[in-house]
Amino acid sequence: METRITRMLHIHYPILQGGLAYLALAELAAAVSNAGGLGQITATSLASVDDLRREITRARMLTDQPFGVNLAISQHHEVDSMVDVVVEEAVPVVTLTGGNPAKVLERLQSCNIKKLVMVSSAMQAKKAETLGADAVIAVGQEGGGHIGRDDTGTFVLIPSVVDAVKIPVVASGGIADGRGLAAALALGAEAIEMGTRFIVTKECTAHMAYKERLLQARAAETRVIKRSIGAPGRVMNGPWVEHVLQKEREAASEQELYALLQGKRNLRVIIDGDFDQGYGWAGQSVELIHAIMTVEDLIAEVIHDALSVQKRLQTVLAVKDK
Ligand SMILES: Cc1cc2nc3c(=O)[nH]c(=O)nc-3n(C[C@H](O)[C@H](O)[C@H](O)COP(=O)(O)O)c2cc1C
Repeated sequence: METRITRMLHIHYPILQGGLAYLALAELAAAVSNAGGLGQITATSLASVDDLRREITRARMLTDQPFGVNLAISQHHEVDSMVDVVVEEAVPVVTLTGGNPAKVLERLQSCNIKKLVMVSSAMQAKKAETLGADAVIAVGQEGGGHIGRDDTGTFVLIPSVVDAVKIPVVASGGIADGRGLAAALALGAEAIEMGTRFIVTKECTAHMAYKERLLQARAAETRVIKRSIGAPGRVMNGPWVEHVLQKEREAASEQELYALLQGKRNLRVIIDGDFDQGYGWAGQSVELIHAIMTVEDLIAEVIHDALSVQKRLQTVLAVKDK
């Protein structure tokens, strides 16, 4: 499985772990990288620049393989300093989301760091390419966490982005198994990114109740919040989310909504497993998750199943003489 992405990122398998706020820590990142994919540390849910430096050091103690740092550009007042840390620590890959990436891309242009920008439309992908991104991660509306405003699903988004840019495309949103990997490659993507699937692994530090909820959930039990303020994001349904949605129906202001969705409310689910008092991001791929596995077993299974799809397609797509 060699693609421009595996070559560019020096990874064995075309599988990236998505930035996962508060969960993409050294343990998970290192486990994914050790298993042949690209793990990531999410910087902007960390409290400080020092915390980021500590996570990078911890990840380096757990793996000698490359890993990335995910930065949600407009989500942290210390983003510029975090970019400095990434440069100083010579982290090989950065993924950028949640804002205009122009400034950070320019800052990193002369560094030997691969820059991947998350997009949700062909137009955004073209812009990222023009600004100097090395690849784009196209996230369909099935995905967990923040999704684009256009409501475009992965199956349409990926070929549309592949047609629009010359740089390689990573497919994200709704992918949780080997069939998804094979389908993404068939659509022209050169790797996949999975977010929700990696929460339900042994190495992820999420509370067991969060993992169990994702394990049992159907796609229809996810909800999109913050649509009313133009920043849609997909979460697991629960009492707190229903409360938020009710407030949106009542036309709550951006300020009121953010008060209900502060990081500490996210941590109520991540640390305490309490859906009555908090929210947890999750994508429609919950419907495809059937076991809590080690990251190594998960990646091995995804690769094995993708190869089975390939074998099946060799028969299905074969042209037979009449
Ligand atoms: C719990 C959770 C937290 C997330 N936090 C971030 C984040 O901090 N930064 C980011 O770029 N994407 C974040 N995402 C989005 C993922 O990186 C990825 O794009 C998405 O999960 C892909 O869709 P999937 O969940 O269907 O795999 C998050 C997703 C989830 C499920």
